[in-house]
Amino acid sequence: MSAGQRPGPTAHPGHVAIIMDGNGRWAQMRGLPRQEGHRRGLEALRSAVRNAGELGVRILTLYSFSTENWRRPATEVSFLLGLLKRFVEKDLSELHAAGVRVRIIGGRDDLTPDIRRLVEHAETVTRDNTRMTLVIAFNYGARDEIVRATRKLARDAAAGRIDAATIDEATLASRLDTADLPDPELVIRTSGETRISNFLLWQAAYAEFVFTPVLWPDFNRAAFEEALAEYGRRERRFGALSEPIDRAAGAA
Ligand code: IPE
Ligand code: IPE
Ligand code: MG
Repeated sequence: MSAGQRPGPTAHPGHVAIIMDGNGRWAQMRGLPRQEGHRRGLEALRSAVRNAGELGVRILTLYSFSTENWRRPATEVSFLLGLLKRFVEKDLSELHAAGVRVRIIGGRDDLTPDIRRLVEHAETVTRDNTRMTLVIAFNYGARDEIVRATRKLARDAAAGRIDAATIDEATLASRLDTADLPDPELVIRTSGETRISNFLLWQAAYAEFVFTPVLWPDFNRAAFEEALAEYGRRERRFGALSEPIDRAAGAA
C-alpha cells in the first residue's frame, strides 16, 4: 500500500477525473445537431475547470477524445478536433493567468503537426504553474497508453538501461503518460453510462466511481458538488479492513 492509500473515511479528493459524456444526447433531446451539444460541452468543461479550482480539487483530468472516437463520422471528428484547438488557442492565456498547469495525455504520434505543436506549446507555457493541474486526455486510450509504456520498457531493457528482473509497478507507472501525477481518487462519468470506455485503466485501479445521469452540458457546480459529496460518503479500504473493525480486532 503506497502513501495516501490508507483505509478509512474519505477526505476531499485531490485528483478528480471525468468522463465527459452525453453531449450528443443533450443536443438530440432539443432537436439540435450533435455539434451544438459539443459546443455546450465545451462551456461545461470551462466551468468544470473553474469549479474544480474553487472546490479545492488540485488536479482535474478530463476525457475529451478517445482512441475509439476516431470511429465517428469524419465531420464529427474534425468538428471535435477544431473545438479542442480553439479551446487551447483561446483559453490558454486565461488558464495561464489563473496559475493552471496544462498537461495533455494520449498518443502524440498520429496527431497532425499543428495540433502536436499546440499541445506542446500549452504544456511549455504553463509548465511552472502550481495552483492547479488540468490534464486533458486527448487521443487517449488506456490500453494504448499501457502498450506505449511497455514498448518503452522493452526498449530500455533491450538497450541494457534497465534489468527486466527489476521491473515493478513504479517502473511501469513512470513510463505512462501520467508519470508524475498521482492517481485519481474519484472518477466521475456523466450521462448515465456505467462503463470506463478505456479511460485510466491503470491509474483508476482503486478510484471511487460516481456515475451521474446528468448529461455533460448540464454538469454544473451543483452536480460537481454532489459528486464530491457522494465521494465523501464512501469508505475506501484498499483491500484492508475498515478502521473500526480493525480496532475491534486489535482490542479482542
Ligand atoms: C461526449 O459526448 C463527447 C465525446 C465523447 C467526444 P458524446 O458525443 O459521446 O455524447 P453521446 O454519448 O452521443 O450522447
Ligand atoms: C467516452 O465517451 C470518451 C469520452 C468521453 C471522450 P464515448 O461516448 O466515446 O464512450 P462509449 O462509446 O459510450 O463507450
Ligand atoms: Mg458518448
